[in-house]
Amino acid sequence: MKTAVCPGSFDPITTGHLDIITRAAGLFDRVIVLISVNAAKKTSFTLEERADLARKAVAHLPNVEVDFFSGLLVDYVEKQSADAIVRGLRAMSDFEYEFQMALANKKLNPRAETVFLSTAAENMYVSSSLVRQIASFGGSISGLVPECIEDAIRTRFAQE
Ligand code: COA
Repeated sequence: MKTAVCPGSFDPITTGHLDIITRAAGLFDRVIVLISVNAAKKTSFTLEERADLARKAVAHLPNVEVDFFSGLLVDYVEKQSADAIVRGLRAMSDFEYEFQMALANKKLNPRAETVFLSTAAENMYVSSSLVRQIASFGGSISGLVPECIEDAIRTRFAQE
């Protein structure tokens, strides 16, 4: 059984993330969406809130589960005996950062293989920060996040 971990901040999960997760679910037997801590980012949603949104978004995918973890990604990968880390690549600008992370993870654990999937063309411009910015000003996030979590995100920003 081949297991992949799709890690990220998911603050919140977007249609771009969901596209990568859906495609990973077609390639691996089991996919774990791992809500993780990026020390360089101050998030709007708590780990639990991000996990709840992700769970709703992947509910239709039977071989996908959601978990959260605040330690090193490679430790989680080892604990789950996962075969791969899956990340999406949007543009060349993502490459340097992603390549550095893949190399650092491999240095920390030589068993940690990273697999990159290219983002669908229609999601090239989508990002969690774009979603947060639009939602915070009451704009439409339709098409940028999975439909089933649009209301939850809108309500959350309306409360701020
Ligand atoms: N389509 C559209 N947008 C996408 C996308 C896709 N397929 N894939 C990613 N993005 C966007 C996200 O929306 C996000 O946008 P933002 O910067 O505006 O928020 C950005 O690209 C990347 O964020 P995300 O995918 O959520 O992950 P991240 O880069 O914040 O994740 C971790 C980094 C969490 C994986 C990394 O910090 C980590 O592994 N942390 C655990 C601790 C650790 O082990 N650290 C050492 C790692 S070497």
